[in-house]
Amino acid sequence: MPIRQLSVSGVRNLAPLELTAHPSVNFIYGDNGSGKSSLLEAIALLSTGKSFRSNQIRQLINHDADRLELSCVLEDPQAADGDKELYSLRLKNGDVLFRLNGSVLTSQAEVATNLPVQVIEPNTFRLLVGSPEDRRQFLDWGVFHVEPGFIEEWRIFKKVLKQRNSVLKQKEESWLDAWDSGFVEASEKIHQYRIQYLEQFVPCFEETLQALDPNIAVRLHYYPGWERDSRLEEVLERQRERDLQLGYTQAGPHRAELRIRVDKLPAADVLSRGQQKTVVAALKLTQGILFKQHCGTAPIYLVDDLASELDSGHRLALCKLLEDLKCQVFITSIEKQQLMDSWTPQDYKVFHVERGEIREEPITDPSA
Ligand SMILES: Nc1ncnc2c1ncn2[C@@H]1O[C@H](COP(=O)(O)OP(=O)(O)OP(=O)(O)O)[C@@H](O)[C@H]1O
Ligand SMILES: [Mg+2]
Repeated sequence: MPIRQLSVSGVRNLAPLELTAHPSVNFIYGDNGSGKSSLLEAIALLSTGKSFRSNQIRQLINHDADRLELSCVLEDPQAADGDKELYSLRLKNGDVLFRLNGSVLTSQAEVATNLPVQVIEPNTFRLLVGSPEDRRQFLDWGVFHVEPGFIEEWRIFKKVLKQRNSVLKQKEESWLDAWDSGFVEASEKIHQYRIQYLEQFVPCFEETLQALDPNIAVRLHYYPGWERDSRLEEVLERQRERDLQLGYTQAGPHRAELRIRVDKLPAADVLSRGQQKTVVAALKLTQGILFKQHCGTAPIYLVDDLASELDSGHRLALCKLLEDLKCQVFITSIEKQQLMDSWTPQDYKVFHVERGEIREEPITDPSA
């Protein structure tokens, strides 16, 4: 569901703004420090509650403001009750408020369901070099959106894990037998959801990566969170003593990971920076493709600094895949021409950012 209207205030250097976005392609260009990334960051924050640049949300709030406010109108031609309006308010003291059509939402997950986004930006390669948790969260984003029962099972699993860990901390060994069967049952459900998702994900990823760069030979390996060839109950039994010493559960779906390898080595240790970015772009596009297959519309793609690390051939290939996906895209670059050379969609909007002010530019028809 594309964003039609976006309003942002109190974000970094951006002047309060209201813009009418194009339902497909939005080109954003401007000099260094003008506010391009800040605009994309604002959209990502509205959706995910996180920034792709700072761990602390208060860093995003304008130095002279005590709050930031974001809202958008989502175009939903199918919805009987018309368009949706999402609103979020964040104060410097950490308070947050979300609303959908005026009604308060209780969790960020509810916002994310209404405004799914995928971000491809200069630090995107960190998905490969970062922690297993990053890759587990990446995998679960897809499972969450594509497998509707997953979120509830995940909540149940987290509860059981917490209870088992508290038994371990209290060194109540005799209670563990009772907890372990529930733990294994909840773990199996999470594991099955992930496997189901990956059965679709892996072939789609291979095809997408092939389209972006046929010379990168990367393979995905799913690690469920315990030794692949063992049953979880056996692993828990074997690790019980160590679990009791540590006071937490070492094995289980909370330790799952998507391992990305070239031959037997981690892709991050072998691939160049540009190749890493290409692999992560393929992973993120694959999520969008599967999301669209299941949910009917693609997520919104935020592509910050298209040119960073990608040569013109890779830029063209990435833009072609985004075009094929028919998703809404907000894509930034320092040079307008570099964007236009990578992508010539039939219909689009161009925005110029200058010292925090965003202005829509009239499109000049080159054939006129
Ligand atoms: N909390 C804040 N309050 C005010 N200004 C800020 C804040 N945080 C960052 N800035 C400033 O906002 C400006 C915009 O930064 P942004 O990263 O969005 O620029 P950009 O257009 O993406 O630049 P580049 O092309 O270099 O990536 C920078 O000049 C930065 O110093
Ligand atoms: Mg930037």
